Amino acid sequence: MNLLREERKGRRVLLTRNLAPGKRVYNEELVLKDGVEFRTWDPFRSKLAAAILKGLPEDVVREGAKVLYLGASTGTTASHVSDLVGPPGLVIGVEFAPRVAREFVEHVARERANVVPFVSDARDPSKYSIAQVDVVYCDIAQPDQTDIALANCARLLKKEGTLLLIVKARSIDVLKEPERVFSEERSKLEKAGLKIRSVIELSPFEKDHALIYATA
Ligand SMILES: C[S@@+](CC[C@H](N)C(=O)[O-])C[C@H]1O[C@@H](n2cnc3c(N)ncnc32)[C@H](O)[C@@H]1O
Repeated sequence: MNLLREERKGRRVLLTRNLAPGKRVYNEELVLKDGVEFRTWDPFRSKLAAAILKGLPEDVVREGAKVLYLGASTGTTASHVSDLVGPPGLVIGVEFAPRVAREFVEHVARERANVVPFVSDARDPSKYSIAQVDVVYCDIAQPDQTDIALANCARLLKKEGTLLLIVKARSIDVLKEPERVFSEERSKLEKAGLKIRSVIELSPFEKDHALIYATA
């Protein structure tokens, strides 16, 4: 069991089993449960945690899965994905900004054997020559991010694999209603042949964001 749910001071809390015991990645709490260390997973810092608290099935990222993570940044969420997939899984983290990528390498990839960093542009998936994956997670906050996610899925997502796409409405069009942006991005995925399982709006954790859960 790599994910726990708890109620603390009237709030629902998620925890992931720490793959690097004793190590923190951000300001999360380390909590011992029957001798096993877990890390609190903050839904205000991680859109995947927010989506799980708002109904995304938690087994979408399961133990042993291979995850291509686009937009790893300093690794806040990627580190929890590394906890979820555990030692038999793999997280391939792609990040193109050198400063944050360095932090990701030093604080996350170096401490975790199941994390492989690529300092690379997600626009060109041929640059990271890897085998096909079970899950593509895309959180790059770019206007053309749905096309970038689709290019990665076409090349690297297994048949019946999962795409988790974070849509930041304001990065795509500041003037349009967020609901309309979510619906247009959803249509692009459907046109590309993906099946939409759910569209989860992330408030109150993130304003004007949604996670689209789709399968190939
Ligand atoms: C919203 S942040 C990601 C936050 C991270 N997913 C988390 O939850 O911890 C978006 C990241 O995507 C990166 N990014 C944007 N465009 C990219 C691209 N074309 N290729 C790779 N990384 C990109 C940015 O440098 C930034 O670090």
